[in-house]
Amino acid sequence: MAGYDDRDGKIWMDGKLVEWRDAKVHILTHALHYASSVFEGERCYTGKIFKSVEHSERLRKSAELLDMPLPYTVAEIEAAKTATLEANGLTDAYVRALAWRGAGEDMGVASSRNPIRMAVAVWSWGNYYGDAKFKGAKLDISKWKRPSPETIPSAAKASGLYMICTMSKHAAEAKGCSDAMMFDYRGYVAEATGANIFFVKNGEVHTPLPDAILNGITRQTVIGMLRDKGITVHERYIEAAELEGFEQCWLTGTAAEVTPVGQIGDYTFEVGALTREIATDYEKLVRA
Ligand SMILES: Cc1ncc(COP(=O)(O)O)c(C=O)c1O
Repeated sequence: MAGYDDRDGKIWMDGKLVEWRDAKVHILTHALHYASSVFEGERCYTGKIFKSVEHSERLRKSAELLDMPLPYTVAEIEAAKTATLEANGLTDAYVRALAWRGAGEDMGVASSRNPIRMAVAVWSWGNYYGDAKFKGAKLDISKWKRPSPETIPSAAKASGLYMICTMSKHAAEAKGCSDAMMFDYRGYVAEATGANIFFVKNGEVHTPLPDAILNGITRQTVIGMLRDKGITVHERYIEAAELEGFEQCWLTGTAAEVTPVGQIGDYTFEVGALTREIATDYEKLVRA
């Protein structure tokens, strides 16, 4: 498979569609040096992006949190995504919207004179965890902790927050795991490197409070689905010692969708009935 920079197709950049291979930035782009970049990961199913407006709103919010207000409205972001999907002839695709501080008069930490830029790329992308999607993913436990919201704007889907995720995932893959679960700065269960986490015990569901992690759009959707079924969902702080007592576990995210987890470190979980039911219901919902 060719590299992501070497493909046919079009990418939307700063208001217009350009050839895929020409979607380039200068080496003195502020974002490349100082992580002034925010993004979205979305999925288009049979021609419709699931929760598209919510993703566009979150992109704008993430950019605001990084002090780089986007020069595009939600409606303009929506139009950009539609145009990119159409230009590439895709109806089932992953959608990556990205906004960043470009190159300009500033090359120090401050960047207010540099342009705020945006791009949208789309491509076909199957299961994020491959086979694990069906068998139950094996997760490592990361040595890195999710930082306090007083350390970094954790509510933003910002590139800087992924530095420890990339390192965690590399370490996990080196051990034969699909991903890593991270604790937060207080020692509570947080999330995986690109997905939220849920546990089942005695027919009730437990998931971390999103006060130091991304409150994923899939997470919110799945909580709504569970409550609609009459299942109790506890959004609360989860201690490390509790991992031993949970029966089932799954991850949620746009890329991960609902992925069962079979193992986290030495703790094992069954791919149980509720996990399978929620995964199936989610698949139906996104295509409804
Ligand atoms: C760190 C992190 N947490 C959670 C999620 C899940 O968010 P969503 O369901 O909005 O895709 C993602 C993926 O975007 C993520 O990268």
